[in-house]
Amino acid sequence: MKNRVLSGIRATGRLHLGNYLGAVKGMLALQDDPAYETLYMVADVHAVTTPYDVEELRKNRREVIIDYLAAGLDPAKSVLFQQADVPQHLELAFYLSSVVTIARMQHLPTFKDKVKQYPEHATMALLNYPILMASDILIYKAGLVPVGVDQEPHLEVAREIAGKMNKEYGMDFPEPKRFKTEGDYVPSLLGEGKMSKSVEGSFINLTDDLATIKAKLAKAPTDSGIIGGNIPKDGGVGNLFTLFKLFLDKELFVKYVIDYREKRIRYSEMKQVLADAIYKELQPIQEKRKYFEEHSEEVDQIIKEGGEKARAIASETIREVRNKMGLL
Ligand code: ADP
Ligand code: TRP
Repeated sequence: MKNRVLSGIRATGRLHLGNYLGAVKGMLALQDDPAYETLYMVADVHAVTTPYDVEELRKNRREVIIDYLAAGLDPAKSVLFQQADVPQHLELAFYLSSVVTIARMQHLPTFKDKVKQYPEHATMALLNYPILMASDILIYKAGLVPVGVDQEPHLEVAREIAGKMNKEYGMDFPEPKRFKTEGDYVPSLLGEGKMSKSVEGSFINLTDDLATIKAKLAKAPTDSGIIGGNIPKDGGVGNLFTLFKLFLDKELFVKYVIDYREKRIRYSEMKQVLADAIYKELQPIQEKRKYFEEHSEEVDQIIKEGGEKARAIASETIREVRNKMGLL
């Protein structure tokens, strides 16, 4: 059996550069490596763990699949599917929850952050979020997961669960590892924290045109340009340089580092250059997106077939788990 890979992105909005560099680029690299069997889903069930609008979710889960296809995920090489189309994930999540303590879930930084964000919504679904994610991965016995660095605490939970299920019930789950990309932490445009769908003004979407990218970058905070010395690690200027490093040729990057050091940096020029470089990467994705927007039945077919393939693998694991746990 080939090594399996699974990843997903929540259906909470259009994809941005952070999702692209941190997750999708890794998905693409593994899809093109014949050593791996790749399965990529839109995590629509995970979207109900925080407050949401029903019609928005219906729309968003399809948009994520279209973004995947536009970015180059290929149904001939990867199984592309909607999490909700494989209800076995939810069944396995319940079995897995029997080896996890409430305290372990309550202490996760991701849980605490979300409770802070939505104090009225500290629900059981939110507490169970990491268990469902572990189930998404383990149901395919995937050993490699291309995601950004912020997902590491969730992967740690998945490894613990795999270990416990193997020990207590004689399963053979691998302990899933993160597949890292160069852009596994894309900073926010606001000068603080990571680029995130839930922080307005922090992101550039894969669908943004050149004018929008320029306008968003123009708003990114900098300094007077006469500070000089080493590039700061974070803040507006640090973040801008991180983006620069991810999108520009090394020589040009070095030139701007020297300009900064020698106090002759011109941020407006630097931002124009960065906007052009980002757009150059996004333009082919946008062209491909148009194609799939116009070929709706093709997308329907891809989602249908992906669901079928995923369900076939998932139901095998469910049978095995039920059997080992005395439920069959
Ligand atoms: P968001 O935080 O914008 O809601 P998600 O939580 O849906 O994004 O993340 C989807 C995927 O994209 C995950 O693999 C996550 O690690 C990755 N990701 C999200 N933001 C970034 C970022 N700023 N840098 C790198 N990877 C990111
Ligand atoms: N928790 C991930 C995020 O916020 C999304 C996700 C759900 C996921 N299930 C997964 C990622 C399984 C990788 C594997 O981005």
